[in-house]
Amino acid sequence: MQNMSKKLKNKFFTSSLLEWNNSLNHRPMPWKGEKDPYRIWLSEIILQQTRVEQGWQYYNKFIGTFPSINDLAKAPEEKVFKLWEGLGYYTRCKNLIATAKLIAKERKGNFPDTYEEIIALKGVGPYTAAAIASFAYQLPHAVVDGNVFRVLSRYFGIVTPVDSSEGKKLFIALADELLDKNAPGIYNQALMDFGATICKPSLPLCNACILKKMCTAYRDGTVNKLPVKEKSIAKKLRYFYYIKALYNDTAYVRKRPAKDIWENLYEFILMESDQPIEPDSDTVKKIIGKQKFDVLQVSVPYKQQLTHQTIQGQFISIRLQRPLALADFEAVPIKKLRELPFPKFILNYLTDKKLTLNL
Ligand code: ADE
Repeated sequence: MQNMSKKLKNKFFTSSLLEWNNSLNHRPMPWKGEKDPYRIWLSEIILQQTRVEQGWQYYNKFIGTFPSINDLAKAPEEKVFKLWEGLGYYTRCKNLIATAKLIAKERKGNFPDTYEEIIALKGVGPYTAAAIASFAYQLPHAVVDGNVFRVLSRYFGIVTPVDSSEGKKLFIALADELLDKNAPGIYNQALMDFGATICKPSLPLCNACILKKMCTAYRDGTVNKLPVKEKSIAKKLRYFYYIKALYNDTAYVRKRPAKDIWENLYEFILMESDQPIEPDSDTVKKIIGKQKFDVLQVSVPYKQQLTHQTIQGQFISIRLQRPLALADFEAVPIKKLRELPFPKFILNYLTDKKLTLNL
């Protein structure tokens, strides 16, 4: 009996979701219905840590500049990084370049067409592999991410924490059971869209929900309590004080080294602290030594939220009387600064319209 009702509940889920998708899902996105695996892969890498609204423009820029995977593979890396600028999490961009080169060289530009080969690509985990395999090749792999955890935990009233190993196993098995094996691509996209537009994290649209008559959380009034998470990750706070040192019409910058955030992106002279400090001339002196300078401007505070850390800080513009000799730093003409890829934190400062002096 219990099996029977579970079967019914599953069937209702899958068929209602597809019905909703057919008649009520009006979420336009440029990659929707796309069959070219290169374009699908590109969109999924962009969407790994980026909201759809933001990723959309980047996707179009990439497709416009690199219409095929061979075009991306041939491009100078700096050009790809520049196009990626503002998206953050640059490991994705590095993996994108490495994978494009590999596919161009070893597979003559032909994207792999099995789940096993797709998941073996750099930067492709189970979610992205299932999305590519189902969208491009109709392979029966269910996507499982935060959206799916939320929809399933609510509909089935599952209180097992989604970030526990037991929870992960349970949700993966359930997602596979629910997948429509005849239309895995359409089903997966429908589930993503449903989670993003109806069964949202906060203020879900339960009134408009086609699943509500069988939704356990709706019946029990626990929609806002699900999904359950075991751990909440404490974010590390880091304070970055940047000295924008100008000498004639140049500014000193360097490429950030590996093993930290923003690898390969450019930055000004950095003073990092684990607590707030006063961004004044004493701070500058600690870094550049006895060299004479004038403070031109101290910026307002800026903030950037990353997954596991928060970066806060300010920018101090100074004018030097003599050139600086700082290891790794080069003097770049101010006019050329914008050609370099910067992390969003610095880009926000460089493009801040509120600054009166933006050198
Ligand atoms: N997030 C990850 N992949 C997505 C897709 N194909 N559509 C919407 N959001 C997504």
